[in-house]
Amino acid sequence: MMLDKNSLKEFAAPVRSDLDEFSRRLNDYLKGDSPLITSIARHLLKSRGKRIRPVFLFLASRAADCFDENSVEASLAIELIHSATLLHDDVVDESDLRRGLETVNAQWTNLISVLMGDYLFAKAFRIMVETSSLDLMRAISRATERVSVGELRQIEETGNYDLSEDEYYSIIADKTASLFNVACEAGPILAKRQKKERKNFADFGEKIGVAFQIADDLLDFVGEADQTGKEPGIDVMTGQVTLPLIYALKKSSAASRKEMITMLGDKKRESSFESVHNFVLETGGIDYAYRKAADLGEVGLSAISSMGESVYFDSLANMVKFTTARVS
Ligand code: IPE
Ligand code: IPE
Ligand code: MG
Ligand code: MG
Repeated sequence: MMLDKNSLKEFAAPVRSDLDEFSRRLNDYLKGDSPLITSIARHLLKSRGKRIRPVFLFLASRAADCFDENSVEASLAIELIHSATLLHDDVVDESDLRRGLETVNAQWTNLISVLMGDYLFAKAFRIMVETSSLDLMRAISRATERVSVGELRQIEETGNYDLSEDEYYSIIADKTASLFNVACEAGPILAKRQKKERKNFADFGEKIGVAFQIADDLLDFVGEADQTGKEPGIDVMTGQVTLPLIYALKKSSAASRKEMITMLGDKKRESSFESVHNFVLETGGIDYAYRKAADLGEVGLSAISSMGESVYFDSLANMVKFTTARVS
């Protein structure tokens, strides 16, 4: 079963008031220090994204009974960093559609998108420092560094059709799981919980983050632009090698592998994406990637399964399902 935004809303219901506080604070922070910043901020708030990292942060904190006066600050810092990386990513990927609206680089310019991204990073650092938690600052800084490593590694591997499954996991762990990791660990960090408990939550976030990116990469094959807010087929056409394709290339005969790689290199052919899509589907790459994402979700949940029963824990389990079976 595929899950949409309504399921997300339902699963996030136990932390609705935390999310409202988050929204209120975010709106305040983005009021803007210049007319240009204000108009871009308005654009960003108009299409606000799923806010899935704050949802995980609040649910995990409440499930571990360590919600704290600084939890909202932590969630704001992480979401602002996420937004900053998207502004940079859309320049890198030359994307013109995000969250169903024109990207900042498309509506304004690459330069403005990069600088607005820097502005959001700076805001995030300022809010992060307000928590006075060195451990949290350490974890968020490390996660931000990992995002850059992942994005740079991905550029290095563009068009590498020999990329192994493990290399792929390592890239998406850095690029995407890093922020989920710190979002899930933030509560236990702020509450100064023991190393072991912190690690369990970090491991949970890491697995969920990898699953989330596998699902995102699947949407490039199976998604609809009116749901995802991004055009499908872009990864394939720009030489991004993701799990469904890695698996399909590994499973196919030498001859069809060779034929497919030739087609992948030929960006001018209108029919390319459809052929690649069919090849990946027929070879079982789509099924394999969905199974992997679901398995990672299970492994992630097992890391925190020693926690007591609560409405928050149940919601986390549902959020894991959303992460791996989402349509947007
Ligand atoms: C998009 O993240 C980038 C990835 C890591 C796949 P989200 O899907 O969380 O983006 P928004 O914030 O909901 O738009
Ligand atoms: C998102 O990566 C950016 C980061 C995780 C930093 P992608 O390029 O894979 O995601 P979309 O498709 O633009 O959201
Ligand atoms: Mg992108
Ligand atoms: Mg990218």
